[in-house]
Amino acid sequence: MVTDPNLAIIVLAAGQGTRMKSATPKLLHPLAGAPIVSHVLATARAMDPALILAVVRHERDRVSEVIEAELPDAVIIDQDHVPGTGRAVEQAVADLPEGFNGDVLVLNGDVPLLDADTLRELIDGHRASGAAATVLSSVVSDATGYGRIVRAADGGLERIVEHKDATAAERAIDEINAGIYVFGVSALRDQLAYLRTDNAQGEKYLTDMVELLHRAGSSVSAVPVAESWKAEGINDRAQLSEAAARLNALIVRGWQLNGVTVQDPATTWIDLTVTLAPDVTILPGTQLKGATTVEKDAVIGPDTTLVDCEVGEGAKVKRTDATLAVIGARASVGPFSYLRPGTVLDADGKIGTFVETKNSHIGQGSKVPHLSYIGDSNVGRGVNLGAGTITANYDDLTKHRTEIGDEVHTGSHNVFVAPVRIGDGAKTGAGAVIRKDVPAGALALSVAPQRNIEGWVEKNRSGTAAAEVAERARSAQEANDGSQRQDG
Ligand code: UD1
Ligand code: CA
Repeated sequence: MVTDPNLAIIVLAAGQGTRMKSATPKLLHPLAGAPIVSHVLATARAMDPALILAVVRHERDRVSEVIEAELPDAVIIDQDHVPGTGRAVEQAVADLPEGFNGDVLVLNGDVPLLDADTLRELIDGHRASGAAATVLSSVVSDATGYGRIVRAADGGLERIVEHKDATAAERAIDEINAGIYVFGVSALRDQLAYLRTDNAQGEKYLTDMVELLHRAGSSVSAVPVAESWKAEGINDRAQLSEAAARLNALIVRGWQLNGVTVQDPATTWIDLTVTLAPDVTILPGTQLKGATTVEKDAVIGPDTTLVDCEVGEGAKVKRTDATLAVIGARASVGPFSYLRPGTVLDADGKIGTFVETKNSHIGQGSKVPHLSYIGDSNVGRGVNLGAGTITANYDDLTKHRTEIGDEVHTGSHNVFVAPVRIGDGAKTGAGAVIRKDVPAGALALSVAPQRNIEGWVEKNRSGTAAAEVAERARSAQEANDGSQRQDG
């Protein structure tokens, strides 16, 4: 799109969001991986207007930070103590350059699913009609909480009445105000000062502009959106989950049409920021979040959560929880693996069942198949770490690294007490506790030779079931040995 020099956008983001009942400002609750308001800001940017203004007040620093991150050029307006969407717009309009004579698009910060094409149509329609204001409306099955569109006998827009101020007859109206408006700036400049607060909420309602303009003889119109879900606002957590499901269904469908197999869209959650290649397969119960990317032919899931991960071509990641991890081509992860930040598993590697990794590089073709913790480690190529390997990286004061060379094979149930280094091709015995470096090619054994103390159980545990069976087994063995001697 080319910049529209006659368009300014005001994003309303000053409200508290009381109905969320949350310490987090409503507009910062996440939706498909981004704060609610970020979706509105991204749409505003896509419109390419001359100017974007965002009005803040409640938790202004936290909200402004998100706005500045998304739209560094936006003008932040601080709403004063007078409440209401009308006051928010009044203050933003006062900040518009005097020479600006175009249209003002007002976007409620809590209506995140609207797309730029719908808004562009609204603006084009507004301009073609010559109206002073055009309101986006929506016909819905449950209008509770919304402002209702009150039309005159001839169908023209007369006024908007807020739910809390509406009569029973008005509450029966199923056409609602979507909270999206286009105003000619002169209409705003002329009438905003007349907004009053004598209503159920004691606020300056932007919606009262419709009646003011109508009475002043200006033409105002309400245009229903074709798909009503696009205009849904988020006031509480039930509406948040509905919007999230709606957006997720769109995201999943988009990937399906791009060649990704998603077996169960209802239990697959994909953030807007995720990238998937064709012929990726996603199995039920999978969440892909943040900057996660997945290359072709990889199979993810079931029951897997990946946050900011890179998954290579043909890799398989099953029943896994991973954050900030890199999984190489054809690698295999899971089931029941926990990959913490800084895990890098090279091509053809394996992180198996009940294995936790952190801040570790596991080289090409290397395997950590079972019941292990690998932290702060470098593992070379072609390594096999035995079942139950623990890198003891923390000595109660600081973390240390474990360095394991190429083609190292370790015994089961080893502890590597870091800092420690295992040379290329070395081996370790079962149950070893490795506290000293192992040279390349060495076999390291740290367990004392086994001693069998004969008859210990019968002597020390007489009368127990163990002693009884042990005695029987020993007598049988002795009898057997005796007869063999006679034979021999
Ligand atoms: C508003 C509309 C209602 C419409 C609905 C659509 C008004 C008076 N009512 O109601 O007709 O059907 O949206 O979703 O406008 N805000 C400010 N400053 C304030 C108050 C609110 O910037 O003083 C912002 C909020 O952060 C929010 C938006 O304006 O992003 C809407 O405010 P909200 O309180 O949610 O209005 P609704 O009651 O939903
Ligand atoms: Ca709202």
